[in-house]
Amino acid sequence: MSNKQFDVIVIGGGPGGYVAAIRAAQLGFNTACIDEWKSAKGGPALGGTCTNVGCIPSKALLQSSENFEHAGKHFADHGIQLSNLGIDVAKMLSRKDGVVKQNNDGIVYLFKKNKVAFFHGRGSFVKAAEGGYEVKAGDETLTGKHVILATGSNPRALPGAPFDEDNILSNDGALRIPTVPKRLGLIGSGVIGLEMGSVWRRLGSEVTVLEALPAFLGAVDEQIAKEAQKAFVKQGLKIELGVKVGEVKQGKGGLSVAYTNAKGEAQTLAVDKLIVSIGRVPNTIGLNGEAVGLKLDERGAIVVDDDCKTNLPNVWAIGDVVRGPMLAHKAEEEGVAVAERIAGQHGHVNFNTIPWVIYTSPEIAWVGQTEQQLKAAGRAYKAGAFPFMANGRARALGDTTGMVKMLSDAKTDEILGVHIVGPFASELISEAVVAMEFKASAEDIARICHAHPSLSEATKEAALAVDKRTLNL
Ligand code: FAD
Ligand code: NAI
Repeated sequence: MSNKQFDVIVIGGGPGGYVAAIRAAQLGFNTACIDEWKSAKGGPALGGTCTNVGCIPSKALLQSSENFEHAGKHFADHGIQLSNLGIDVAKMLSRKDGVVKQNNDGIVYLFKKNKVAFFHGRGSFVKAAEGGYEVKAGDETLTGKHVILATGSNPRALPGAPFDEDNILSNDGALRIPTVPKRLGLIGSGVIGLEMGSVWRRLGSEVTVLEALPAFLGAVDEQIAKEAQKAFVKQGLKIELGVKVGEVKQGKGGLSVAYTNAKGEAQTLAVDKLIVSIGRVPNTIGLNGEAVGLKLDERGAIVVDDDCKTNLPNVWAIGDVVRGPMLAHKAEEEGVAVAERIAGQHGHVNFNTIPWVIYTSPEIAWVGQTEQQLKAAGRAYKAGAFPFMANGRARALGDTTGMVKMLSDAKTDEILGVHIVGPFASELISEAVVAMEFKASAEDIARICHAHPSLSEATKEAALAVDKRTLNL
């Protein structure tokens, strides 16, 4: 047992916590980070949900499964002939585990480089102490002037159907199904549902998604969501909207999910595995916030103000455990901003320019407001769209699904939102984020030289379309 004193103690080593710790150390603070995630061997596995069972492994499997789909369905268009194509799921999963490990190790290296003291174990409040807080880190006791809480989120389970990670799967189990299930059910057609559904469909599963809401991807611009839905259905994803999910039963022949469809008819879905992806809940388990009077809201999120300050002096909270979108880059931005605020600087996070990406094929990406949001707010706007069908690079790629759509203010022409469905939307969206950060107008983008042939020309053409003067359509 020892008592170590720090300027900043970060609890949680996900993208919010580890980035906050690095930035705090860069700013000259004596910094500790406590994280309890365990690798399969029981050792530390820094990076949180994102690195271990989220962003990174899901993208690794999306890439493997997309390669498989291309080899089986699209290589022939290029004159490439293959025979005996097969998928070795064990190899694919072990590659994914390798990618995760590289990222875990990368953070260990970054902590060493920046002199962040790392403690593997659970972090919990003991009491407010002189000049800060006493915090347990596993068996050790630390004292910190400032505490940054970055404890992330956990998957929400369906009532009466707890995760067993064997048949009823959260994102964790969904990323390590040992053999391709013949029939895969998904509850919730949100981000995880669509990404995980895509992985296993590409590998050969019959995938059915049951979604409670009547609209597909309700938060996405309607025109973009419709285009994406069309593409997913064409690929063979079965999506039932407006359902009410009832009892889930497990038997010898698999699982059965009772539900009522949009017409009110009682139905049963029989599947071999079931992924439940109906959102995530903020995680404060084991933090012992009660010991210091940490305030939570009715959803269990830590209450913070615009600067990520909690109700306690010098206690901050960031990432999935607080309000706002549950995204790794949002958590990172908040982590940097809080470290800078502790240093007396003016850390800043612009919630209006946080991009969203869904890494399906086609990819879906957006930033700013949707057309339906602008209509609801009564804001006068102009809209322009350009389809990838008319883009030379997309034709060469053999992937012409989708479009770039731009929305700008009717009077000032300032860009209010950019919505993309199509190839490499995840990369294309960055231009829109930069443009919006600099308060660019659609005309600014239209006047900027874009490389030819490139998918980014579709963004330029969408900007031209706002002014009804596309050149290639
Ligand atoms: P987390 O990453 O959840 O990290 C919290 C850490 O704190 C964990 O390591 C946890 O073990 C630790 N911890 C908790 N309590 C304690 C305690 N008391 N003591 C010590 N340690 C503790 N976002 C994107 O932006 N892009 C994506 O592509 C993307 N894909 C995703 C795919 C899936 C399948 C999932 C589930 C999520 C995905 N996300 C994605 C969301 C992203 O993972 C989260 O928004 C992000 O991880 C939140 O970061 P965080 O630091 O707040 O929390
Ligand atoms: P989500 O909020 O994206 O989607 C959940 C879906 O489930 C919604 O469409 C909701 O209407 C539906 N739903 C809720 N209860 C239901 C019920 N009882 N029956 C049927 N449908 C129901 O949540 P998801 O997919 O679990 O992901 C959690 C979060 O993780 C995301 O919101 C996102 O923040 C993050 N994430 C981000 C990714 C990315 O950035 N590419 C990838 C994966 C996750």
